[in-house]
Amino acid sequence: MGILRTIYYKLSPRGRRIARRIYYFPVDLCDYIFSQRNSMIPPKGKIFIGSGDFEQQGLHICDLLLKHAGLNENSHILDIRCGIGRVAVPLTGILSKNGSYDGFDIVKEGINWCNKKIAPKFSNFHFKHVELKNDLYNLNTEDKAKNFQFPYPDNSFDCIILTSVFTHMMPEDVENYLSQIHRVMKPGGKCLVTFFILNETITQLMVSGKTHFKFHSFGNYSLLDKNVKEANVAFQENYLLKIFEKYQLKASLINYGKWSGNENGLDFQDVIILEK
Ligand SMILES: C[S@@+](CC[C@H](N)C(=O)[O-])C[C@H]1O[C@@H](n2cnc3c(N)ncnc32)[C@H](O)[C@@H]1O
Repeated sequence: MGILRTIYYKLSPRGRRIARRIYYFPVDLCDYIFSQRNSMIPPKGKIFIGSGDFEQQGLHICDLLLKHAGLNENSHILDIRCGIGRVAVPLTGILSKNGSYDGFDIVKEGINWCNKKIAPKFSNFHFKHVELKNDLYNLNTEDKAKNFQFPYPDNSFDCIILTSVFTHMMPEDVENYLSQIHRVMKPGGKCLVTFFILNETITQLMVSGKTHFKFHSFGNYSLLDKNVKEANVAFQENYLLKIFEKYQLKASLINYGKWSGNENGLDFQDVIILEK
């Protein structure tokens, strides 16, 4: 694990967000003065959800939704952990007034940004802050995802997105979210979810050094850093298949991602489409 990553994980969630703002301040200032940035795109210092090109990645996820999760202009979409609007921004160009977008997240700054910059322009886009504990993102509460009831009625959504979400959650939290997904998804709906999946083939790749990821096993789940519980979490494939069945969700596509060396990966992480 690199030294910068180690230092990064030693900071509190808020400390990490402040460090990021300071680090990117010169770039963001130049950008503010000289560029014509779309006002819905946050400055780099505010993007707390990870590295990579914010706009390109948002477009890429929408492309996956269009090709594999039945997204169309009239879809009713739920973005579980919408972050700071990475997927919401490109969806504003896809959804018509007959469609809708709902997103929730535990980081208030991200939701505030979306409510200030996106919701006033698109009345069918709604963003909610929920207070739940996550080692990497929010230590302001002890409330756990494993007890959380999504604030939406049954059978509300055609399309549900969780990108880079279950890679930050423990098994009991994942199980609760799967049961909630089943509850709020319409029959025939699709859910696109990304994971780090471990199976025998991938374990062999790790052992032979063909992927530089080395997860530490805790049974059904494994951690990249054994001291940070909710940062990079991988799951055993047979455990995932069991819990999909338990919550009556059918995996109609499993595509292994580029992280484990699959050049045909649709994404860096593994992509699964779940159907109800
Ligand atoms: C890597 S980011 C991905 C954000 C977004 N899905 C995207 O692709 O831009 C993970 C997100 O999960 C949120 N998060 C972590 N635990 C959560 C929980 N239990 N419920 C809702 N959001 C959570 C974090 O605040 C963060 O925005």
